[in-house]
Amino acid sequence: MKVLIVYFSWSGVTARVAKKIAEYLPADRDEIKCYQYKNLLTVFWLSLFARNKELTLAPLRYEPGNYDLVILGAPTWAGVPPRPVIVYLNRYAHQFKQVAFFSTSAATEEQNVLKTMEQVTGKKPVAVAHFHRALVRREGFEEKVKEFVSRITGVSG
Ligand SMILES: Cc1cc2nc3c(=O)[nH]c(=O)nc-3n(C[C@H](O)[C@H](O)[C@H](O)COP(=O)(O)O)c2cc1C
Repeated sequence: MKVLIVYFSWSGVTARVAKKIAEYLPADRDEIKCYQYKNLLTVFWLSLFARNKELTLAPLRYEPGNYDLVILGAPTWAGVPPRPVIVYLNRYAHQFKQVAFFSTSAATEEQNVLKTMEQVTGKKPVAVAHFHRALVRREGFEEKVKEFVSRITGVSG
């Protein structure tokens, strides 16, 4: 099974989860980056005053259509995935075969990141997971990642 992990990460938490997943499931990794998101001030300005401004993503390394499964990871921003993730999903969802989603957040509970990714892609994920950002530095992190991976490989072979 060819697997691609695609994620957005502002401060490294989601990237860390993506890296850990790749330790248990051989996969290529691609990071979504947005040219306009230079610092948090521009992020807030764009979300408050320029909601409809088109965002430009930095070039990506891999075509998701070449993979059997795409794992998408996103932090939680105001309850949902950051806009560059939505831009990516809108652009590539038609290429996805199977998907799995994970989210990270400051709050202990998942908000609307996983649901939004499902809605935007129109695809039922083979597995989902939510990681509280504090967990990635604690005991139990490896176990949670392993469990997520086993659910993915269990369904997808
Ligand atoms: C602009 C912004 C908005 C955020 N909004 C939320 C939120 O609504 N709920 C939440 O639990 N965490 C929120 N957070 C915290 C991040 O979701 C959390 O720290 C996440 O793990 C960061 O992942 P990253 O390091 O990969 O960017 C927000 C962080 C930022 C920078």
